[in-house]
Amino acid sequence: MPRIAYVNGRYVRHAEAAVHVEDRGYQFADGVYEVCEVARGFIMDMRRHLDRLNRSLGELEIAWPMSRKALEFVMREVVKRNRVVNGLVYLQVTRGVALRDHVFPAATVRPAVVVTAKRTDPAAALKRAEAGLKVITVPENRWDRVDIKTVGLLPNVLARQKAKLAGAQEAWFVDPDGTVKEGAATNAWIVTMDGKLVTRPAEHGILRGITRAVVFDLAAGLGLEIEERGFSVAEAKAAREAFITAATTVVMPIVAIDGTPVANGHPGSIALSLRRAFFDVAEKTQA
Ligand code: PDD
Repeated sequence: MPRIAYVNGRYVRHAEAAVHVEDRGYQFADGVYEVCEVARGFIMDMRRHLDRLNRSLGELEIAWPMSRKALEFVMREVVKRNRVVNGLVYLQVTRGVALRDHVFPAATVRPAVVVTAKRTDPAAALKRAEAGLKVITVPENRWDRVDIKTVGLLPNVLARQKAKLAGAQEAWFVDPDGTVKEGAATNAWIVTMDGKLVTRPAEHGILRGITRAVVFDLAAGLGLEIEERGFSVAEAKAAREAFITAATTVVMPIVAIDGTPVANGHPGSIALSLRRAFFDVAEKTQA
């Protein structure tokens, strides 16, 4: 069965799916995106992802490419047509296609939209979680509007590649004062010795992760306290646990930071229990 992508109004074979050479996403990274997890046939937290898309579009003055209802339909349709039961659905909206010019094109230029879906292997993800991931730290070098989920991800790409070359799976951006911001594509958390969850406030400087928001709901249900504050690399290295969150990873334990083991170098029990409880608490939309 061929993979199918949705591109500007049409469902096309993935292998032949293409956008115009003058798409502003391609030329200027002038666009935004969302990634939702698909688990057991449900699109997870679609409402929150589309609320964040709405905010990203609004901040950049890009119009919705279609109604929210229609976009929800397309997302479910792409998941179904690709028979994705466990995986990811990706959507991208750019300012559209126009002759290259930095200023915004005429209002008549329609935003361009692409939706794709792919399968992932839950057993392999569980194995990764049970082994735990390693992170490196890198100096923050992104612009100050990382609260907008734009497709301009070059610093994130370079940081992830650096992590890979160092034998790690994620890189944490760190401010000049030593405070951890977030990962290249995940939010960062620690658990203190007395069992409190700590994550940086999301007002500015990080992306307000949807998985992060679900962990707030989860923690409330499990009676876990959350402190929303910055933490340093040194505090993270000395923490009881560390973990990351994203639609692509759900909750993933971190077992080493810059080569220093976190606690005993094994995944923490709180991170693993948050991971286990995630599906029940997240909002589910049947694909
Ligand atoms: N990334 N911070 C950054 C910089 C991210 O790119 C992401 C998600 C997150 C976590 O957000 P959420 O919980 O809503 O997935 C935090 C997506 C998954 C990606 O780029 O693939």
